[in-house]
Amino acid sequence: MRDEALREAFERFSTDYDARFPRLIPRYVEFHGVIVQRVEEHLQRAAGDEARAKPAGGPWLDLGCGTGELSRRLLERLPGLRLHCVDLAPAMIERAREKLAPWGTQVSFAIGNFLEAPLPAGAAGVVSALAVHHLEADEKRALFARLHGALAPGGLFVLGDAVTGGSEAYTAYYTRRWVEHMRASEMSDDQIAAVLSDNEQNDRFSGLLEQMSWMRESGFSQVECLWKHFLLVVVAAEKG
Ligand SMILES: C[S@@+](CC[C@H](N)C(=O)[O-])C[C@H]1O[C@@H](n2cnc3c(N)ncnc32)[C@H](O)[C@@H]1O
Repeated sequence: MRDEALREAFERFSTDYDARFPRLIPRYVEFHGVIVQRVEEHLQRAAGDEARAKPAGGPWLDLGCGTGELSRRLLERLPGLRLHCVDLAPAMIERAREKLAPWGTQVSFAIGNFLEAPLPAGAAGVVSALAVHHLEADEKRALFARLHGALAPGGLFVLGDAVTGGSEAYTAYYTRRWVEHMRASEMSDDQIAAVLSDNEQNDRFSGLLEQMSWMRESGFSQVECLWKHFLLVVVAAEKG
């Protein structure tokens, strides 16, 4: 049922997603940039500069790839990367397919829920931006355990997402800052109200610290918050 509601919402967003999200999400490009930089640094550390041209090991997963914006940025920076993109909304995957066509068979696609869709064995890494917050808390924990199992030893998980504040007051403060950002991006009151209503219906933000502890519980080490801007965070974790 929730899958259907989410699919329906993102099918609606698919046509104007790329124009809409930089206005809706504060520092959207910078946020993706932090994820890309961490992946690049990980590959260089693992195998030196040549790794950028042809990364060794299994594919990288982009969970909740949407229209493929994060994957595109990864591939522009790391042109030899192999990626497997998963999303439950067929129209979003279709946009991603068109956008990522220049990288041909390096990129594969699957329509499905990343909590249960088959994942390629021995993935070298996982990235996910603005998607995991749609899961309930227990589903996030189950996902982190699943990803730890799917990664090859030495694999990296980079999660970019929206979180609650550490108290109700800070959660409310983040929401106010988010609304200010949307106003400054010249979104109308009706558009902002629609975003907040969608947020209430479809989003299940969890706290940053609890998510980091769930990653550790799942076996990840070096769990680190690399970047934070009010409700947005980028967290990296490694499979030792
Ligand atoms: C806000 S978009 C983010 C897209 C892209 N990652 C980005 O950074 O722009 C969230 C995407 O996650 C997908 N999604 C949400 N929950 C999912 C799930 N459990 N399994 C697969 N896809 C999911 C939605 O269909 C949507 O395309």
